[in-house]
Amino acid sequence: MNKRPNLQAVHLELDQLYARSCRCHDSLGYPINLDLAFLEPLSRFLLFGFNNLGNPFEDNTFPLCSWAYEREVLDFVAKLYHFPVDQDYHGYITGGGSEANLQGLLVAREYYPNGILYFSQDSHYSVPKAAHLLRMSHHIVPSLNNGEIDYNALAEAILQYSNQPVILSLNIGTTMKGAIDSIDRIMEILAQTKTEHYYIHCDAALFGMMLPFLELDQVKYPDFRYPIQSLAISGHKFMGCPFPSGIILTRSIPEAKHIAYVDTLDTTISGSRNGHSPLILWYILQVKGEAGLKQEVQTCLSNAHYLYQQLKQHNYPCQLNPHSNIVLLKPPPRALSKKWDLAIEGDWAHIVVMQHVTRAQLDLFLADLLAL
Ligand SMILES: Cc1ncc(COP(=O)(O)O)c(C=O)c1O
Repeated sequence: MNKRPNLQAVHLELDQLYARSCRCHDSLGYPINLDLAFLEPLSRFLLFGFNNLGNPFEDNTFPLCSWAYEREVLDFVAKLYHFPVDQDYHGYITGGGSEANLQGLLVAREYYPNGILYFSQDSHYSVPKAAHLLRMSHHIVPSLNNGEIDYNALAEAILQYSNQPVILSLNIGTTMKGAIDSIDRIMEILAQTKTEHYYIHCDAALFGMMLPFLELDQVKYPDFRYPIQSLAISGHKFMGCPFPSGIILTRSIPEAKHIAYVDTLDTTISGSRNGHSPLILWYILQVKGEAGLKQEVQTCLSNAHYLYQQLKQHNYPCQLNPHSNIVLLKPPPRALSKKWDLAIEGDWAHIVVMQHVTRAQLDLFLADLLAL
């Protein structure tokens, strides 16, 4: 017998979830932008099942698709990262940073099937996971204390396997410490080791939409004027898409079959793809523009610096890498870490100073911490 659904209870449950979600604004430990009230005008699109299945650079006949917006977002990122105007870029909006890394490394493996993938031990777990899924030979390189790859150890490893192409997954902002692997040091190593065949993938999950908005001579990070082959950025981190999403740009396209029933090339890892994310990312770019994003980056970095200075003044063990909004600190007692949702790994906890994190909130956290 079907029982009549108790809709009153369902709505009560939803109200409680909504109240709990609103309280998440106090969350300090994760790289998600929670300052999203300006997305309200898009809520009406939730009534449509947008699906971006297939290669966004083709024409498609499916009416509920946001490919045109997807192309505009990819174009914005390609320009931001100086993709050569006389060459075609490829890519799509993925279901997250992990899928973007997987796609970048898939292209790498097709480029160099016998290559060895090198990445540092501070890389996000999606990188070794991609190596596993793609059955790529790989070598994990130790990291320096600040989270950058150990350049000497990398050079030694490359020399050890010198007859095989080098595939590098560089961190443009590590998950825990916000460290940037230096593209200039990497280029020197490739020259010193006389490496001719290489593929460089850049994992810029959080910082990918931050670094280009800093003053030009403030920071060195890879763009497509360097011989990098692919770039992955998360859409739900700094950009603030409320659905997990990612952006992958590549110089070449993975081998793909034509799929007759949808009349498209199968160039993406997933088939059906979220069609709302590209629309939302496009809208974010329209509303904020480069000037708005630049302002947000400056505010986040200056608030991160403020937190770091306060911790230092009180002799509380902490670290902050240059151009980073990730402040490392000695893990506070469990109850406090839980209250502020801090992420903890090994000897460090971290606070990611995102757009919704204000100085007032940081002061409240500091008061809690320093009262211990
Ligand atoms: C450096 C880095 N790469 C990749 C990812 C994976 O992103 P996602 O969680 O969107 O799959 C993250 C997520 O935190 C990250 O920090």
